[in-house]
Amino acid sequence: MKTNHSYSRRFFIKSSSAFAALAFIPLTVRSFFNEVKEKYFVKKQKIPLLVSINKKEYQLQVDTRTTLLDLLRENIGLTGTKKGCDHGQCGACTVHIDGDRNLSCLTLAVMLPGREITTIEGLADGDKLHPMQEAFIENDGFQCGYCTPGQIMSAVACVKEGHTGSVGEIKEYMSGNLCRCAAYNGITKSIQQVAT
Ligand code: FES
Ligand code: FES
Repeated sequence: MKTNHSYSRRFFIKSSSAFAALAFIPLTVRSFFNEVKEKYFVKKQKIPLLVSINKKEYQLQVDTRTTLLDLLRENIGLTGTKKGCDHGQCGACTVHIDGDRNLSCLTLAVMLPGREITTIEGLADGDKLHPMQEAFIENDGFQCGYCTPGQIMSAVACVKEGHTGSVGEIKEYMSGNLCRCAAYNGITKSIQQVAT
């Protein structure tokens, strides 16, 4: 009886300590997390933003953390610009900012007031397709089409930049745009056609 009583008491004390520790750890972790969050996390904040996209002005309230890609697709409904990797690896989200190619997934919307953004929807002249769009159709520059808006925006810039001296040069300057369907030959031919 004595042994059992002693065991029970020790067991009770140990168990209580363990439960107390378990209850204490989450609180410590939570307060540590809150401290880090308070000091280092960017707080959600909306600001007014005036942007010009495809020669049309948009007055919006946006979260300061919004990327141009999400602004186009989620806030404005211009879904021609595609989200592939969402971190600068595939080129599917390429748009023009003041005529230069940029990855919209790596561009914050709040950086854009005063800049002119052109997306694939703004490339054609009314019903008349841009010569690069025509060339992609003529040369089978796509299969599934998912990468195509980014490819075309990059291709237009590639020609404008003058990087069309050879197939090798075109491939080098289009290497940021990946195509899972491997329509690379048609893409290169389209660029050569427009460049000549
Ligand atoms: S979605 Fe921007 S580079 Fe892939
Ligand atoms: S056409 Fe399918 S990913 Fe390029």
